[in-house]
Amino acid sequence: PHITFISSTGAVRTVEGPVGQSVMEIAKRHGVDGIVGECGGCCACATCHVHVAADWRERVGPPSADEADMLEFVSERREGSRLSCQIRVREALDGLVVHTPERQG
Ligand code: FES
Repeated sequence: PHITFISSTGAVRTVEGPVGQSVMEIAKRHGVDGIVGECGGCCACATCHVHVAADWRERVGPPSADEADMLEFVSERREGSRLSCQIRVREALDGLVVHTPERQG
């Protein structure tokens, strides 16, 4: 599936990754700016924060309780905030669009 990342300055990057990987892993593999992923995907650092584009929120779904707790710590929390390591890519998410915040943490 393809995932498009849009930075806070409007830079657009579309990359492709395999089903089953997380959005964070795919971003890191392709060197997408704005995703840090310090904890390696354990839902423990919140440096993989993204804003899911409005059209995609329903398909992506809401954060789990643990993820929602971590989202309390991010700056720039908005509707659509998710930790990208907790979004598993599946075929139904082909074309997913997420926005990366101006800074992580
Ligand atoms: Fe650490 Fe997502 S990579 S919370």
